[in-house]
Parts: sequence; C-alpha cells; structure tokens
Amino acid sequence: MPFETPNNQDLDSFQFTFESYLDDASRIEADLMCSMSPSCLDSSVDTQSLSDSIARYQEEFGRTYHSYHAGSYHFPNDPTETERLDEQYEIMKTVMDGRLHLAPFSPQNHPHKVLDIGTGTGIWAIEMGDEYPEAQIIGTDLSPIQPPFVPPNVRFFVEDSTEEWDFSADFDYIHTRVTIGCWSDMKTQIVQPAFDHLLPGGWLECQEFVVFPECDDGTIPEAFAWKQWALEMRAVSQIANRQFELGSNLKSWFEEVGFVDVHETIYKIPINGWPRDARLKYIGMLWQRNLINGLSGFSLALQNRYGGKTVEDIEVSSQWSGECVMLNVLGGDMTKTDKLL
Ligand SMILES: C[S@@+](CC[C@H](N)C(=O)[O-])C[C@H]1O[C@@H](n2cnc3c(N)ncnc32)[C@H](O)[C@@H]1O
Repeated sequence: MPFETPNNQDLDSFQFTFESYLDDASRIEADLMCSMSPSCLDSSVDTQSLSDSIARYQEEFGRTYHSYHAGSYHFPNDPTETERLDEQYEIMKTVMDGRLHLAPFSPQNHPHKVLDIGTGTGIWAIEMGDEYPEAQIIGTDLSPIQPPFVPPNVRFFVEDSTEEWDFSADFDYIHTRVTIGCWSDMKTQIVQPAFDHLLPGGWLECQEFVVFPECDDGTIPEAFAWKQWALEMRAVSQIANRQFELGSNLKSWFEEVGFVDVHETIYKIPINGWPRDARLKYIGMLWQRNLINGLSGFSLALQNRYGGKTVEDIEVSSQWSGECVMLNVLGGDMTKTDKLL
C-alpha cells in the first residue's frame, strides 16, 4: 500500500517544532477491528581502504560480524541484517514524510560537505548524494557493506568513529541514524567531535530511537515481553559498555557540548498494525516485520557474551518477544509505540 509523500524540496513546507507530540491530542486511535488479530574527501590517518582482512568477517551464531576492530559492535552485518536495515530506512523515510533530514537544507541551500557516521549499507548517504549532487557525502562504518557503485559525490570509508577524527576539512552537516549499540558515550565520542568538526552554522542531526515501548495511556505491563526484552538488552549493553538509551538524551547532550538552536522532533512509531489511521497502520505493519526480522540478530551476541544465555534460550525468548509485537493486546486497550527522536 504505497503512500504519497509530500515533496520535500521546498523549504516553505519546512517546520521545526519545540512541541512535544506526546500529549493527549496526539493519541493514536486504535483500529478495533485489528486489535485482537496478529499481523493485522579526504581520508584520515586511520581510515582504511577496503582490504581482505576487513572483508573477512567474524562468524558466530550462524551470523557474520565486522572484523575491523572486531567485537566493538554486537549486531550482525550479513544480508539478513543489511536487508533489514534497508527496509528500516524506507520505514523511517515514510515516518518522516519522505524527508531525508530535518536540518534546513534544500536544493537552493544545499549542504557542501556531509558526514554520515555509522552509515551501514550507505543507503541514506547515496540518496543524499542524488538529492544534492553538488554536495560531497562521506559515509563511515566499521563494515564495508556499502555497494560498489554509488553516485560520484559519495564515498565510503571503513573507520571507527570512536577514534580521533582526522578529516582534512570540516563539514557543514553531520548525521547519525539508529546507532544504538555503537558507542560507550555518544556525547563525548560523537556529539562533541561533531561540534568540533562542524563549520560555523553547520548542523548535527541524530535520528535515534527510544527502544522501550511506550503507550498513550501508560498501561504497558511490566511483564510485556517486548519491555522485558528491552530491559534485558539494556542490562547486557551496560555490561558490554554500550549505551542503550540515546534518543531521550540527545537534546541535553547537544546543549551541553555547546550547540545552539537545538530542535527536537519526536515521531511515534506503532509496533504493529493496530492504528485505525491507514498511514500509521501501514507503518506499524512494516515496523512489526522489521522488528521481528531483527530480534535474533540484536539479541544473540550481547545476550550470549554478556548475559550468559544460551543460543537456544535467546532464540526462544526472541521468538516470544516477536509474538508479543504481533499480538496487539496484552491486558486491556494497549497502544504500543516505539519512539524515534
Ligand atoms: C544499526 S546500523 C545503522 C546504519 C545506518 N545508519 C542506517 O540507518 O541504516 C549501525 C551501524 O553503525 C556501525 N558502527 C558501529 N560502531 C561503529 C563505530 N565505532 N564507528 C563507525 N561505525 C560504527 C555498524 O557497523 C552499523 O553498520
């Protein structure tokens, strides 16, 4: 069910907001018919060109993981995960009404030098390259999982962004998206260096999740399996020294390092097809599939290495959490959402 998205080229339609969307007026109305049914440049000193060893991935749990600075990031990089990332990208684009960014750029006022940290498959960087052909786009990641053929203004580097940034020129736009699990301290490892490497007037934009499920009436039970899964992931992430809560901290981190003109926009993302509204239902159904496809990959390395769980136990509890994502109702009128900040 495709949706028409508004043309995003025109800054007239651009709008920031300081308002929280999480008040009563923003409640998402449930589709009651659905509620009981399932499924309703310049390189740096440490930047490395692609080499055999970087592409020879670590294998564990039947999945593959990055080999450059192996063990730093605990989610897989195999086709199951990269396909999920690309699907997640499309969902987020739909959530953001077709926009790639909220920073006030347009074809008439385009960015010149863009850095996408933890670029993944590079899909955002590639689309930015197409949208702004006069901009130079650099994407960095621990994994060389980006396609070989990209627009001429887009380049990818294997790089660990927690290490000193050594680009020869500064940027006017720096971007992160869905980097939970990447950092031990996003404020000092990413937000501060971004501040230091942005030209005056430049923008940092971080599009990050709140993983803990929330609902409009605050009635998610403690026992809700998705919530239990999130609690468990937070605990093992702490042991692994990886921050689990990014989205809810971004605004204060930005302000603390000295950014001015800080804007926060919150989007609700339904975790299945329960909303009555057709657009939200569509997003929820896509999101449900994406979460279920990702659960085992998110869980395996962290819960086994740092939580001591067996692979079998992890697969069973991932499956159960996935079923809870599919089933709408767990005690009452639940309206469950993830939040993207
Ligand atoms: C969940 S993926 C998101 C990818 C992409 N931003 C997107 O929205 O599809 C996080 C990415 O960050 C990368 N990453 C993890 N730790 C990193 C680090 N220290 N430096 C650079 N990239 C890192 C991972 O390899 C992975 O590709």
